Amino acid sequence: MLVLGIESTCDEAACAVVRDGREILSNVVSSQVDLHRMYGGVVPELACRRHVDVLIPVIEEALINSKTKLQTIDLIAVARGPGLVGALLIGLNAAKALSFALGKPLIGVNHIEAHLYASLMSAKTAIAFPCLGVVLSGGHTAMVVIRDLGDYQLIGQTVDDAIGEAFDKVAKMLHLPYPGGPEIERLARDGDPKTYAFRGGRVKERPLDFSFSGLKTAVLYTLQKGNIHPNDLAASFQEAAFQDVIAKSLRAAKLHECSSLVFGGGVTANQRLRYLFASAAPEMNLHWPTMEMTIDNAAMIAGLGFHTYKRKGPDDLSLDALTQMPLG
Ligand code: KG4
Ligand code: ZN
Repeated sequence: MLVLGIESTCDEAACAVVRDGREILSNVVSSQVDLHRMYGGVVPELACRRHVDVLIPVIEEALINSKTKLQTIDLIAVARGPGLVGALLIGLNAAKALSFALGKPLIGVNHIEAHLYASLMSAKTAIAFPCLGVVLSGGHTAMVVIRDLGDYQLIGQTVDDAIGEAFDKVAKMLHLPYPGGPEIERLARDGDPKTYAFRGGRVKERPLDFSFSGLKTAVLYTLQKGNIHPNDLAASFQEAAFQDVIAKSLRAAKLHECSSLVFGGGVTANQRLRYLFASAAPEMNLHWPTMEMTIDNAAMIAGLGFHTYKRKGPDDLSLDALTQMPLG
């Protein structure tokens, strides 16, 4: 089954063609980083307008790269949420138009679930369920027990900033460009993580929830005192955020008897995170997305769309965009 996937939840317009949920025939991503950088973050209105301009050429490029024709596509998959409503609508309407014009079924998928599917899709051998899904992105920080595709139990999430958002905000304090995550990682490479005693936040009576706003404020106060070393500050912040994620993930894995961890989201591109996890849990099976699948992309949407369609059947043209969307 050939699935054409469309992604436009935030500041990437993407299209991919994937066979049978796994084999990526093409994967085209048009990033808008250049557009939003001067504002220090994503401007929703500008993101929508850019999506309108680039989405059709992106779809055409994905078809050309896959050496397939629109007529041979069997299913149109689209990220219906969570995301910026205006941005979502561009992808959703493009998907509906294709579905209607071609007479091919339409399926809407969850962007966060797709980030986790990206790791399952990249895995060389099948991953045993239940496993623990850890989502670390610009908009979400969450842990879910994955019992099967489509069967998720949310067991922890952030009560304030998402982890990627905290990286972006700390980077801004250090006058680094957007997106800040890769910049912090770069600075931290030459820093000593033990210089400043930061810690991830704890949520009262909810040991598996996250809070990053206190950590962010601690960085701000340290900066305001002056005379800081940016590399050491970046390294100390990054280490505190990651040690918090690692401790809570391992605790959750133990509690829910998961021996495999499946990661998803932009922050999982960070090599220090991968190194720290591997050092802390050598006995666990850690499944990271390939680097091209860490960022927002449509291959994960098409891949997940295949399975969702098999399980639930098609959506119809009344499919809505959802700014918030629970997993499952
Ligand atoms: O998953 P994603 O592309 O978008 C959402 O669905 O939210 O994640 C983007 C986030 C940004 O906050 C970005 O700063 C962060 O991922 N990020 C990183 C790294 N690369 C991207 N954070 C830490 N280290 C990185 N290397
Ligand atoms: Zn994402």
